[in-house]
Amino acid sequence: MIQQTLVLIKPDGVQRGLIGEIIKRFEQRGLKIIAMKMCRVERSLAEKHYTEDISKKHGKEVREYLLDYITSGPVIALAIQGSDAVRIVRKIVGSTYPGEADIGTIRGDFAHVSKEYAKKKNQGKNLVHASETEEDAKKELALWFSVDEIHDYKLAVEEHIL
Ligand code: CDP
Ligand code: MG
Repeated sequence: MIQQTLVLIKPDGVQRGLIGEIIKRFEQRGLKIIAMKMCRVERSLAEKHYTEDISKKHGKEVREYLLDYITSGPVIALAIQGSDAVRIVRKIVGSTYPGEADIGTIRGDFAHVSKEYAKKKNQGKNLVHASETEEDAKKELALWFSVDEIHDYKLAVEEHIL
């Protein structure tokens, strides 16, 4: 099924000069970038993106850390489309704690924060955000992009990859 999903290159990804490297990984898999922008995140947007669900999952401190962190510098927002895109993008990104992420994933190749360290410090820099479910993706895309910022076009590789 063709799906659309949201990816954010978080401030650590931007500040480490990994924008191109990260985007390349989605492109080389045959996924289509249908929207992209660099933006400084308002606190109000950050609060809608990282909802109270984050506090329930990881604790209040983690949410506070994330809100400060995501608003601390520019991020790149991407809308990505493709067959089974929500799941494939999460696989390319790798698991939440980079120390546990597989080699070959973005988090596994460019970061190494361990789960223990992240939990002790209530923080884990892991370069990218990717929507977890199709339902989340729809909500998050609507937060980050207006309809006229999203584009559709044919990728030359479509007939070979999809
Ligand atoms: O990003 P992902 O969906 O893999 O993980 P999440 O469980 O939705 O958590 C959102 C974000 O919280 C993670 O990507 C980490 O950046 C951050 N986090 C953290 O800073 N410290 C933790 N102990 C757990 C998560
Ligand atoms: Mg998540």
